[in-house]
Amino acid sequence: MNKEYVIKLTEGYARKTLEGELSGHDYWHVYRVWKTAKFIAKKEKADSFIVELAALLHDIADWKAYDGDTTIGPRLAREWLESIEVDAQTISHVCEIINDLSFKGAEVKTPMRTLEGKIVQDADRLDAIGAIGIARTFAYGASKGREMYNPSIPPKKHKTFEEYKQSKSVTINHFYEKLLLLKDLMNTKTAKKLAKERHKFMEEFLDQFFDKWECK
Ligand code: NI
Repeated sequence: MNKEYVIKLTEGYARKTLEGELSGHDYWHVYRVWKTAKFIAKKEKADSFIVELAALLHDIADWKAYDGDTTIGPRLAREWLESIEVDAQTISHVCEIINDLSFKGAEVKTPMRTLEGKIVQDADRLDAIGAIGIARTFAYGASKGREMYNPSIPPKKHKTFEEYKQSKSVTINHFYEKLLLLKDLMNTKTAKKLAKERHKFMEEFLDQFFDKWECK
């Protein structure tokens, strides 16, 4: 099995499948997670083949787009990897990562079993913060018809995955319900370092946002 060729085919599959996705889980999100995960894998001396495949397939069928069905992602990933004859051990590791990956609400813990899984989770979370995270959050909110901000709707930490899935809060609250919490959830040393700058940028953005809301 030529690993480089498998990655190339999988990249093409992800690109084709996610083309035109407008909710923030489009191909370019996958592309950024892939590149970031590859960078972290090198620094952390992880198995880059597993990391890259899991990164490329991690949003192949996002549960948010399939009425909360969390099983479809790993299933599609497995079908794809079997179709290009990737070995069974690699497939089961990659599918485990995809299954464990989704963020399930601020107070619901999602531990990853392996270093490779921790790295893909870190890369996915890094793409949710900083300048890109801000842009994606507003794009996603708009796709759901949410208000940007409404001072009468306070942010809320979700205790269960069900609560998180049902939440219909305004977009800016998502920073408090999820994005500002991600910095402390990074698994690897490399990701912790990368998260610092992105986190700071979000705090500055929010300062400006609320400052200008009242025209100060
Ligand atoms: Ni993702």
